[in-house]
Amino acid sequence: MTAWNHGYVTDSPYTFSYQPAQTPGSIAMVCAMAGVAWQPRPGMAVLDIGCGRGLTVNVLAAANPDWNVIGLDYNPAHIAEAQELAEAAELGNAGFVEADLAAMTDAELDQLPELDVVTIHGVWTWVSDAVRAGIVRLLARRLKPGGVCYIGYNVLPGFGGDAALQRLFRHLAALEKTGTSPERAAAALEVIRGLSANRPVHLSPTPMFQRLADVEAPLDAAYLAHEFLTEHWRPVFFEDLAAALAGAKLEYVGSATMHENIPDMLFEDAQRRVYEGLPHGPAREFMKDLCLQRPFRRDVFIRGLRRVDRTAALDRLVLAATRAMPEESPKLGVPVGVAEMGADLYAPMAAALNEGPQSLGRLRQLPGSRVPNPAEVLAILGGGMVLAALREAGSSPRTDHFNRVLHAMTRATGATEGQLAMASPMVAAGLPCSWVELAVCMQPGITAPDADPVAITHQALPHLTEEQTPGAIDLVTRMLAERLPIWRRFGVLPG
Ligand SMILES: C[S@@+](CC[C@H](N)C(=O)[O-])C[C@H]1O[C@@H](n2cnc3c(N)ncnc32)[C@H](O)[C@@H]1O
Repeated sequence: MTAWNHGYVTDSPYTFSYQPAQTPGSIAMVCAMAGVAWQPRPGMAVLDIGCGRGLTVNVLAAANPDWNVIGLDYNPAHIAEAQELAEAAELGNAGFVEADLAAMTDAELDQLPELDVVTIHGVWTWVSDAVRAGIVRLLARRLKPGGVCYIGYNVLPGFGGDAALQRLFRHLAALEKTGTSPERAAAALEVIRGLSANRPVHLSPTPMFQRLADVEAPLDAAYLAHEFLTEHWRPVFFEDLAAALAGAKLEYVGSATMHENIPDMLFEDAQRRVYEGLPHGPAREFMKDLCLQRPFRRDVFIRGLRRVDRTAALDRLVLAATRAMPEESPKLGVPVGVAEMGADLYAPMAAALNEGPQSLGRLRQLPGSRVPNPAEVLAILGGGMVLAALREAGSSPRTDHFNRVLHAMTRATGATEGQLAMASPMVAAGLPCSWVELAVCMQPGITAPDADPVAITHQALPHLTEEQTPGAIDLVTRMLAERLPIWRRFGVLPG
């Protein structure tokens, strides 16, 4: 371990992942859901604190030539990789700063622009108090009045049951005298799996423990190392995070997991009575954390909270479907059961969304037995089925170049882990995708009416074995049928 790492993992990179919840379009949905005034605007300055390998920053910069998008991280390997992608894609508006949050002076903080949006995903609950204090100082000094902050973090009590598991990971990994952090985490995992049948009584059978025990769906070793091997792994109670952020005058807006903003979808009757007896604010959020099976929260805060009409704000959102809408309403699993729309309400909405982006206001006015509640519609569709469209449809040479560079890079490194995204001008963000989708979408000739799935499979996936080939051809054939119209809609391919 190096001296500068303050107990965080720095000998190997974090996963290369795009986070949709960090995007201004998603933050705008949360603000509308809460009836809070905020909308993305031209010329914004956006900062991602602890940006890792910078994929989200680069996607946002590619999709928004007029935004200044900055990533900050103390790991020079992360910053170098992020800069390399920005340079290869010629993103003059993506900037990366190598800085230790615990040590930034006021003068260094003031070199950052005044910020409209700050995002902090996967940092707060893995770092020391000094780093947390650095984050609050940055927010207090550089987040504009009216600016928003998205933060994703491990929460109590949801992740508290894994405190012993984290300690065990660290003890077992320390036995490995050689190897990188992911290799040591993988060795620790083997021992932990061996305990599945004879778990010590205080190693709780939490959802995380069960995921680790599942050999069929192994978790990425880089994720495990960064999640569990840090010295400062400390999930927090919401109220303690909110109190810390209040030091930068931030107030809570809502959850980026849309249905978590709707008490009707969360609580059984007795729980609901307790919830409603509590004052608005941290106590009610605590009640949610107590009742929900969630170890990780994605929250939006704002510096200067102003209320607006919630229904009007929701109705103004324009939604673009990320896939062909299924014939029946999606069924959203929520703590009290399954949330779905009646067929008479859903069918006209699905048909309209299959035509192209629609305002939520228009969707709600389509013929049906009643005018549905806009928050409920957004909760059911907002878990990935729709994204907020901030601009007119259409492709751009800039995003096209970025997507091609991203593809070339993933192809060169053979990276198949992590959540990728193709930059889309319409959503001012990314259209999440797998590496196979990226590879297929970037093949020349893909939009030709006579595009041959067999040839495209071989071009996109040149290293297939004979055994893998038929399955891959099937997959690509389905992908062409299902994804081409969506790729055109999002402007990642010319319409
Ligand atoms: C779990 S990773 C999350 C990365 C990224 N936000 C994502 O979700 O893909 C935490 C990040 O915080 C960075 N970090 C940890 N301590 C830091 C510090 N003192 N100053 C700046 N960055 C730090 C790490 O280098 C790492 O990239």
